[in-house]
Amino acid sequence: MNTARVLALTMGLTLCSSALALDLTEHEQAGKRLYREGVSSSDAQLLARVGASGMSVPASVLPCASCHGTDGRGRAEGGVKPPSLDWQRLALGQGQRQANGRSYPAYSEGTLARAIQHGVDPAGNRLDAAMPRFELTLADQRNLTAYLKRLSDERDPGVEESVLRLGTLLPGSGPLADAGHVVRAVIEDGLAQLNEQGGIHGRRLELVVLDPGNDTASASQALNRLVDEQQVFALISPLAPMLDEQLVTALEQHDVPLVGSTPRSGGSAQIFDPLPGLPTQLLSLAEHARNALGVPADGLRVVYAGAEQAALAEQVRERLQQQGWATGPVQAFAGQAVDGQGVVFVGRAPAFAELANALQASGREPYLLAASSQVAGAVAQLPAHWSQRVFLAYPYVPDDWTEHGLATLSGVQRRQGLDPRQASLQVNTLCALRLLTEALKQIGRDASREQLVAALEGLHDVSTGLTPALGFGPGRRQGMAGAHVVAVALPGPRFTSVAPYRPLPDMP
Ligand code: HEC
Repeated sequence: MNTARVLALTMGLTLCSSALALDLTEHEQAGKRLYREGVSSSDAQLLARVGASGMSVPASVLPCASCHGTDGRGRAEGGVKPPSLDWQRLALGQGQRQANGRSYPAYSEGTLARAIQHGVDPAGNRLDAAMPRFELTLADQRNLTAYLKRLSDERDPGVEESVLRLGTLLPGSGPLADAGHVVRAVIEDGLAQLNEQGGIHGRRLELVVLDPGNDTASASQALNRLVDEQQVFALISPLAPMLDEQLVTALEQHDVPLVGSTPRSGGSAQIFDPLPGLPTQLLSLAEHARNALGVPADGLRVVYAGAEQAALAEQVRERLQQQGWATGPVQAFAGQAVDGQGVVFVGRAPAFAELANALQASGREPYLLAASSQVAGAVAQLPAHWSQRVFLAYPYVPDDWTEHGLATLSGVQRRQGLDPRQASLQVNTLCALRLLTEALKQIGRDASREQLVAALEGLHDVSTGLTPALGFGPGRRQGMAGAHVVAVALPGPRFTSVAPYRPLPDMP
């Protein structure tokens, strides 16, 4: 039996951003294949002469990208370094350029071809033998040059030589300012620790925080600035609940990944929520009602309070239906008692208490099922009538916390002077940071948003020490496919975990 403390709850974190998909011409495409794979646009095999002896090998064994990087940024390791092939650096503007102790004026298309084929720079210096000499036809050379001019456009924003930029939206004033402060402190603390250890793949992680203001228009504007002007690579744990659909649209338009909890979690390929969304949590409660409480398929009702909860309630009803429940239509709560052996509630704490009162006054005692994040504040005040009849969903309980997880959490609380009572928001943010940085480590130095999404999808069984193991999958965008079920004993309240987290069947 596991006793759970009440965890003050999780808030809707939201985010977005974007990248441009490049339209390459046919020649540029051919150049890209040559650059990345060492293959010609004709059937001929391309050869590269390597080393002091000039031995010939197929260029496919030594494509440009293998040394200069798919991003063309060159490599920092080794003695004679493959320089950045940024067209701006190579060919545009006046003045001398430097690489490996050579000094030379801007490249032209002609001198570039000479460097690649004969190993001589525009000043006539011989390139080190570490740079192979490639035998290219006129057509291949033209394609390659065309692609090199576009190469730097192909990089996703926010990935620079020595910096990788993340962004978030956190309110500096208003009702969410406090939460914004907590999220910011946790992210900055985590990034500072990573940076102290050298960052990720030689890049320091930088965080850009913009204030979404307090309406949809200002939040949209802040989001666009984050993506377009600030050029952030990905978003982490934004707090901008007013951005609902707009967030999804903006993220998808720009292919910007977001790791964090948002009102649209599960509803966009770009949004990776470390924790289960509300409908998923409520589904775990329904499973418990079916398996342990014996509530029949037509015995559940879905009740919501507040117009802003209507869409969420409808989502819950649909998901329940997919699991074989016949709940009837969702019902708006306006002080009335409802029938049914179990009531799935979507709404805030005060309305939850009102519903309990209305039911009790009419002599009913159904099971009340709700997310702790929404109603936990109301349960202490409920009369003993409701003892063992209220079941709350928790993404994690203190039993999930390992020594290492606790040390991480108390470490950030101590360093940043954070209130342990806001642990749930801190845990949420820590999980988002853990998953994002894990995926960034996996994709290596040639970081692209596409690779990041693929790496996030590939995360399985990531232990946070604070939650059950987290993971995603193709089409799966919530780190947990369910929640713990906790029973409430009254008066007290005392919380008892009655069904530990178990992934729900067929969960997206
Ligand atoms: C085996 C590793 C390797 C491969 C493969 C390779 N390069 Fe290089 N490249 C180098 C190194 C090392 C240098 C630096 C040589 C020097 O500075 O003396 C270099 C230099 C260059 C330069 C000169 C840049 C400057 O600033 O002067 C150009 C241009 C270049 N490479 C283009 C290419 C292209 C295009 C390809 C593919 C067709 C390619 N390289 C394949 C290692 C490589």
